[in-house]
Amino acid sequence: MPTLGIDFGTSNTAAAVMAGDTVFRIPVEPGRETLPTSVFFDMDRKRTLIGSAANAALIDGREGRFMRALKSVLGTPLMREQRQIGYEKMTLLQVVARFLSTVRERAYDATRLEFDAALSGRPVRFHPDPARHAQAQLDLAEAYQLAGFKTVSFLPEPEAAALTAGRLEQRQLGLVVDIGGGTSDFTLYRQDADAIHVLNSHGVRIGGTDFDRLVSLAHVMPLLGRGGDVRNAFGSGTTTAPNAIFNDLATWEKIAFLYTADTRRLVADLAKMGVDQKAFDRLDEVIDMELGHDIAFAVEAGKIAANDTPQGVIDLGALERGLTVPLSAQALGDTLSDLTADIKEAAYEALGDTAPRDVAAVVFVGGSSLMGTMTQAMTELFPQARQVRAQAFTAVSDGLAMAAARLT
Ligand SMILES: Nc1ncnc2c1ncn2[C@@H]1O[C@H](COP(=O)(O)OP(=O)(O)OP(=O)(O)O)[C@@H](O)[C@H]1O
Ligand SMILES: [Mg+2]
Repeated sequence: MPTLGIDFGTSNTAAAVMAGDTVFRIPVEPGRETLPTSVFFDMDRKRTLIGSAANAALIDGREGRFMRALKSVLGTPLMREQRQIGYEKMTLLQVVARFLSTVRERAYDATRLEFDAALSGRPVRFHPDPARHAQAQLDLAEAYQLAGFKTVSFLPEPEAAALTAGRLEQRQLGLVVDIGGGTSDFTLYRQDADAIHVLNSHGVRIGGTDFDRLVSLAHVMPLLGRGGDVRNAFGSGTTTAPNAIFNDLATWEKIAFLYTADTRRLVADLAKMGVDQKAFDRLDEVIDMELGHDIAFAVEAGKIAANDTPQGVIDLGALERGLTVPLSAQALGDTLSDLTADIKEAAYEALGDTAPRDVAAVVFVGGSSLMGTMTQAMTELFPQARQVRAQAFTAVSDGLAMAAARLT
């Protein structure tokens, strides 16, 4: 029985299996090889939507609960808390399982094979803390089991991608640079006569969703009152608005949990006592109308657009007609400079004792590897290396299918 390769990503998920000598990518959505890792609990129809359908339901403003970037929650206590999610009481672990079971069903629809075994990708490090990392993998394994897979094994995502990188000359070194939505992962490998040999892997918990957070905090949240003054309830004087709510609003995996009575009360107080009335009214509107994800999508689109338009904008029309914020490539680079330095440092660390000049090829994988800042950082670190673009969104699942075929 074949094993299904699944790349369960923070932002996008893909699955593949070998058909003879070639990789067969599961059409995880009609006509598409990737699936947004999004879930929407539709209140009216009492249905769970996943992928593009979930995104569309959110954008249409349907009544319900939207979630994205659930991979970032793996390994935290939040995963196993029972909570009311839309029309059901369930844990986030069960939500992840429902997502994975849909992937399994779609693999069945495409191949008429019941997959009992999965080879799943995993980041080199889900979390910097080893215990949390281990818990995250246990959580994910349990979700696969709940989804109907009887056995699941794991392979670091960049090691899977390395299998698809294309042949280097014998004994040359390659470095896979997989910058995704939640993590940046690196694998240093050597080309041997008939296979590649993995020398070292390293990863950090920084990815495109963190870029989105910083862009939102710096460029959008000030319009909602971040850093603004609030009049004290007693006596005179003002204090700065608490930052936590802005931080949560800017963080993909936290947005879904913001729409509580406590938050509504806090925001109503801010709207009453805030000095910049217009800004705090917007914040009130975002919580009241549950627009947090709409803003996050706008920020993400603005971030992507800024890479190839010198004068990009973040379109906040969902919040207020005609409201836009400029975001130039330069401003984007400045906002992300600390994270870029951390990612560069991690790439360097992945080399171990190898000198950067000995890397013959840098193999880019992952949606965030399409960021101009990332290409530039890797060019600075490896000026002499050939740059290879693997399939940004399917290299990991392709490699998992190849590795899975060797397991069985
Ligand atoms: N053209 C682009 N330019 C810049 N960033 C992009 C582009 N396209 C997608 N992204 C970003 O890439 C990220 C998603 O990449 P990808 O699908 O590789 O991640 P993932 O595999 O789901 O996450 P991870 O591997 O970290 O769990 C998102 O943050 C998205 O905003
Ligand atoms: Mg990935």
